[in-house]
Amino acid sequence: MKNVFGNNLTLTLFGESHGPAVGAVIDGLPAGIRVPEEAVSAVMNRRKAYGRISTSRHEEDKVEFLSGIKDGFTQGTPVTILIRNENAERKDYTENIIRPSHADYTGLEKYRGYADLSGGGHFSGRLTAPLTAAGAVCLGMLEKKGITIGTHILQIRTIHDERFHETDPADQLNALRGKQFPVLSDQAADLMKHAIAEAADEGDSLGGILETAVCGLEAGIGEPWFDTAEGMIAHAVFSVPAVKGISFGAGFDLAQMKGSEANDAFTAENGKIKTMTNHSGGIAGGITNGMPVLFRTVIKPTPSIAKEQRSVDPETLEEKIIAVKGRHDPAIVHRACPVIDAVAALVITDLCIERYGALWFTEKDKR
Ligand SMILES: Cc1cc2nc3c(=O)[nH]c(=O)nc-3n(C[C@H](O)[C@H](O)[C@H](O)COP(=O)(O)O)c2cc1C
Repeated sequence: MKNVFGNNLTLTLFGESHGPAVGAVIDGLPAGIRVPEEAVSAVMNRRKAYGRISTSRHEEDKVEFLSGIKDGFTQGTPVTILIRNENAERKDYTENIIRPSHADYTGLEKYRGYADLSGGGHFSGRLTAPLTAAGAVCLGMLEKKGITIGTHILQIRTIHDERFHETDPADQLNALRGKQFPVLSDQAADLMKHAIAEAADEGDSLGGILETAVCGLEAGIGEPWFDTAEGMIAHAVFSVPAVKGISFGAGFDLAQMKGSEANDAFTAENGKIKTMTNHSGGIAGGITNGMPVLFRTVIKPTPSIAKEQRSVDPETLEEKIIAVKGRHDPAIVHRACPVIDAVAALVITDLCIERYGALWFTEKDKR
């Protein structure tokens, strides 16, 4: 029943949607890493709800570091992140219903009625706030080492953004910086926002596909069998609520290719071995090959919708027609982008510590 992820760097998540606070504990960070609060807030702002395309539950999401940080630097002790819940409305969830495709039924079974599942409880997307804050700390650490991570919305229904350049998406990652709705093509962004708003007006919701790139990783990171770079990233990404699939590089398209089309031919450039294509998504044998790590994630449509659906009263087993009340995201895709960046950052930091040791990330000795 543990709620801990990671090897060298571990993350524990705690809290419920309608409890007093949500939070995270990061253990394994060495002493002497600068944690600029403004950089953490900037990542948190990208996860915030806004406008007609998000839930109307707006939270300040002020990150409090309760332990592990002194004068803006890690102390080498566990870092505790707390984010208070300030805008929870329990009255929206008083009806005894299990929402189709949410975790109400599975949570009821697992915790045998003891858990506070109001507003999704511990399963709520709200828990991605401390997850994002923890990832923001790692994003800052990686950036100092020249490793950058970015995610954009690749597809919503039939609307497509342009793909990341498979061998060099660095400029595209730069172009995404600061975008609240992370789409490369402004035209596609407008169409996507319009589609989400239209679904919201119908009391419905939409899902989509995200594409993530990690640039600046050297070859040699990851373990050959169980803690493969792909396996660790997939494990973390599947921890994000509403994720239903992930693929690396050319992914499922590899099924249609011949070896001669799928293989990434080698070349030498500026004294370094590179590949001419990147169908492997920057990973071979579970280990990074020095090319950008590329993966795509499928996010399902938000389960809570105002449209009528069939359900069952879990106490009486009486069949019911329900229309979900409360404040919900008509699409999760845009808010999930910084969350995917965050979990990718946690994994990459963990794998880098395995490869280079924790002191690789730190400032010089203070004594
Ligand atoms: C940032 C974020 C926000 C979310 N907001 C909502 C929401 O407003 N309403 C909802 O029903 N689900 C929301 N979800 C998704 C549910 O938490 C998720 O679908 C549910 O816990 C079931 O888990 P599963 O979809 O992974 O099976 C959100 C997820 C994320 C990542």
